[in-house]
Amino acid sequence: MTDETHRVADPAELPDERDFDKSLRPKRFADFVGQTSVKEQLEIFVQAARNRGETLDHVLLAGPPGLGKTTLAAIIATELQVSVHTTSGPALERKVDVAGILTNLQQGDVLFVDEIHRLNSAIEEVLYPAMEDFEIDIMIGEGPAARSIRLSVPPFTLIGATTRTGLLTTPLRDRFGVWQRLEYYTEDELTAIVRRSAGILGVTIDDESAAQLAARSRGTPRVANRLLRRVRDFAEVRHQGVITLDICLAALDLFQVDHEGLDKLDRDILLTIVQKFDGGPVGLDTLAVALGEESDTLMDVYEPYLIMRGFLKRTPRGRMVTSAGYRHCGLHEPPTAAGTLFA
Ligand SMILES: Nc1ncnc2c1ncn2[C@@H]1O[C@H](COP(=O)(O)OP(=O)(O)OP(=O)(O)O)[C@@H](O)[C@H]1O
Ligand SMILES: [Mg+2]
Repeated sequence: MTDETHRVADPAELPDERDFDKSLRPKRFADFVGQTSVKEQLEIFVQAARNRGETLDHVLLAGPPGLGKTTLAAIIATELQVSVHTTSGPALERKVDVAGILTNLQQGDVLFVDEIHRLNSAIEEVLYPAMEDFEIDIMIGEGPAARSIRLSVPPFTLIGATTRTGLLTTPLRDRFGVWQRLEYYTEDELTAIVRRSAGILGVTIDDESAAQLAARSRGTPRVANRLLRRVRDFAEVRHQGVITLDICLAALDLFQVDHEGLDKLDRDILLTIVQKFDGGPVGLDTLAVALGEESDTLMDVYEPYLIMRGFLKRTPRGRMVTSAGYRHCGLHEPPTAAGTLFA
């Protein structure tokens, strides 16, 4: 054994997984896999703004969690060669905080507002003139002596990220000049992401295993990276560290990630609807209580993929398991009312 392995590291110096997450984040458009059309358009807008020496128009990035909204915001700032200031809808509580952030920006900087659909209306009102005319109104003094003064802020680019465009108010949405929606990734793109991440993490993984992880990643790079790190743990602890197909499949089996990428909670969602609510329809809140989960988590994280794969559908009366959902759980679908009528 070398001295290296004996050294007792200070826990504060140990790299934690979040650091790896950062290191896996592509830094430039060229490293960003997939989303070809979104990337191509953004590259053009960034290049055009740079050529004209102008500030890039405000950008709204929408799409399910883990598809690369935060990553793209950082890439845009890097490619524009400006600084990025990060905040989020729920963090912006008071007008004065927004005024503080805006007046501290340098010309052309990016202000990234994550979860922008969760901004409160008072804050939105401060943002309207800031986004449109680079001006903000602030109140000075109190009581009858209070008056509003108008301050200029440096021209900046607001990049908003949201998992729910439907919740954005129209006036806010209209103030974005660029609107992009990220879609789930293909298996080939996810395979490329797994290979790239394995390279950065220094893990050896064969092609079949990379494809397996891609197929089970729910179209989502964040899930692909997480599966890779977990399978690497398994390969290191139970084997010699190299990820081969047998090892990969044994790990996925242990983690209960099935061949469609559904994990235990996904299957619990389908099973709960079938077993406790006769296949649905059941309201989201009732379902959340039955599962002991937050409604928001179900809606933002779990449902989009189950719906995309056709296992679940949203109806005006609630969530229902589809025929494919029944089949996936190995259950027989009861005859439908319509089915009995025409039988
Ligand atoms: N196109 C891509 N190529 C390679 N890796 C990617 C890509 N998109 C995302 N990733 C990886 O996936 C992880 C999650 O991406 P990111 O944090 O940007 O998602 P997000 O859309 O902001 O999610 P959330 O809605 O939860 O904030 C990143 O750490 C990055 O490593
Ligand atoms: Mg994000």
